[in-house]
Amino acid sequence: MIRNNWYAILDSKQVPSHKLVGFRRLGENLVFWRDKQGMVHCYRDSCPHRGAALSKGKLIHDSIQCPFHGLEFNPQGNCTYIPSYGKNGVVPKAFHLTGYPLREKHGLIWLWFGDATDPLPPINFFPSLTGHDYSYAGFQDHWKTHYSRAVENQLDVVHLPFVHHNTIGAGNRRLVDGPIAEWDERDGDLLNLWVFNRVDDGTPPKKSSELSKPEGHPSLQFRFPNTWQNWISDDFRVFIAFVPVDEENTILYIRNYQRSLRIPIFRSVVNTLSLIGSWVIERQDKRVVETQVPLRTYYRMPEILIRGDSPIVLYRKRRAL
Ligand code: FES
Ligand SMILES: [Fe+2]
Repeated sequence: MIRNNWYAILDSKQVPSHKLVGFRRLGENLVFWRDKQGMVHCYRDSCPHRGAALSKGKLIHDSIQCPFHGLEFNPQGNCTYIPSYGKNGVVPKAFHLTGYPLREKHGLIWLWFGDATDPLPPINFFPSLTGHDYSYAGFQDHWKTHYSRAVENQLDVVHLPFVHHNTIGAGNRRLVDGPIAEWDERDGDLLNLWVFNRVDDGTPPKKSSELSKPEGHPSLQFRFPNTWQNWISDDFRVFIAFVPVDEENTILYIRNYQRSLRIPIFRSVVNTLSLIGSWVIERQDKRVVETQVPLRTYYRMPEILIRGDSPIVLYRKRRAL
């Protein structure tokens, strides 16, 4: 994990009201709940007494009760009650939970993995997806690999005519000009990528320096550390959050955003149906990416990259900083 970043880790719907839930994220088992104001709290899912999973316990008002010996912890993570000491018993200060700052935005729960600075930096989403009447439908899928492989797959323009030969890569555009990939001048966490794949007509592939950026938006945008969008049109985007579970597991949260349909029932049916295409494409990727070894990538690793892999090199360099 790269420190000092906000990571998208859950869909908001995964933490309901009135219920404790446990998820493994960023290599740790975590417990989540909402207080009466609806605010989400997150701590390591391990009781400081003798290590039982708190997510198997109970929510009592805003506090959680460990299932083993009944210790209770408030939303600040402090133990407020040790039943075996009696209701007037003194709780030693050592009994508190280790937690992470969370925010909820854009229908996602974000975890700050890093130093406890005050205030924490804002969460940056894709500006082009906020405040424009978009609606979305989504699904998630578990990939047995490190999240760096899943991210790199979405920055990989060379694989399109092979992995997706009958879907988004149809047309045999196997010759790769460029691509142009660069970190945004105004927003250093945003990697913009323009794709120029074409049919092989015998002319040599062009370097990115020989290409000019088309007017308007990039084809793809990746936001460090773990979100991405495919800018299919101004009205339709595919969004992915690559959620790290641990060194060997990742969950992809995939959403199709659109803004051309506004009538609620019609819109939600069409949004859901549109996921079929994303699901087929995602399974095509998963089939190959899960075979890549090692599971995690590094800037200097024994792979022999080719020119079209330049976005992947930019990503690896950024991870190595
Ligand atoms: S392990 Fe949690 S109360 Fe004992
Ligand atoms: Fe793909």
